[in-house]
Amino acid sequence: MGIINRKRTGIKLAVILVFCSLTFVLVFVGSRQKAAASASGPSPSYTNAPNEGNCTVCHAGPPANSGTGSVSIAGVPATYLPGETASITVTTSEETGSAYGFQLTAVDSGGSPAGTFAVPTAPPVQTQVVAGFIAGVTRMYVEHTIIGVQPTQFGSKSWTFTWTAPTPAKGKIDFYAAGNGADGDATNSGDFIYTTSVSTSPAVVYSINGRVFLSDGTRGLRNSLIALIDQNSGATRTATTSSFGFYSFTDVLPGTYTLSVKSKLYRYAVKPNVVVSTSDLSNIDFIGLE
Ligand code: HEC
Repeated sequence: MGIINRKRTGIKLAVILVFCSLTFVLVFVGSRQKAAASASGPSPSYTNAPNEGNCTVCHAGPPANSGTGSVSIAGVPATYLPGETASITVTTSEETGSAYGFQLTAVDSGGSPAGTFAVPTAPPVQTQVVAGFIAGVTRMYVEHTIIGVQPTQFGSKSWTFTWTAPTPAKGKIDFYAAGNGADGDATNSGDFIYTTSVSTSPAVVYSINGRVFLSDGTRGLRNSLIALIDQNSGATRTATTSSFGFYSFTDVLPGTYTLSVKSKLYRYAVKPNVVVSTSDLSNIDFIGLE
């Protein structure tokens, strides 16, 4: 019995060993291939964000930002609201380039990923999202695909995708991008690498609260619809009153607003020119008109 058991354990161990070495070879070779195949999208974590290097780690040649080209990030709003979506365009320029690449990430002040990326999926697919584990966190990266390196005009290439701000807001967020204005020879030499960063901060926002009363001015009207219209942009938000007639709007940007109530029971005077500037507004109340 003892011998058979030991034999079985031996076989089990051998199987486990073979399996482990196979997994190791697969993972190792796989990552090597990914690292080497930069034209099909660079390995993650080379954007120059904190704790990251940039593409010059492999693209030996002149130091980053020493060529006549550039990489730029457009479309990041100066301030953001939680959950707000922005269309972002990265452009790598290099006068003599014939293939172009980039990688971008967004991190908060602690280096953690901030917000989410979505890339257009209609072919030809120019961009992809990859994950990279760095400095104890998994950051997300948008980068070019193999098709995405091909320029559509002389001297530069642009890629557009969307970023959705985190909910709740995460403080100041920095975007880092590295771009490669490449000679298109399918090697990592003769290329010009550029880096850049831009940031966005949470918008300063306020709340508007109030109550909708019946015509007696004391009892609240439930389930009435309040509209908040931004007089500048025309953007409209709505809220519904609670059982006691209370309503509230949060995340209101400074501006001038019109507030109105829709109810089947009473008419309510519209309140135009409600100004939100440096504080929350309370007791913006409505009393039913007979
Ligand atoms: C781990 C090494 C490594 C890193 C880091 C790296 N690359 Fe590469 N890259 C290569 C190699 C090797 C090639 C050539 C083989 C290939 O295209 O797969 C290459 C080729 C390219 C090409 C095609 C070049 C040409 O002339 O045809 C582009 C574009 C590119 N890389 C972009 C980038 C960008 C952008 C970054 C930084 C965000 C980057 N790479 C970071 C290894 C790397």
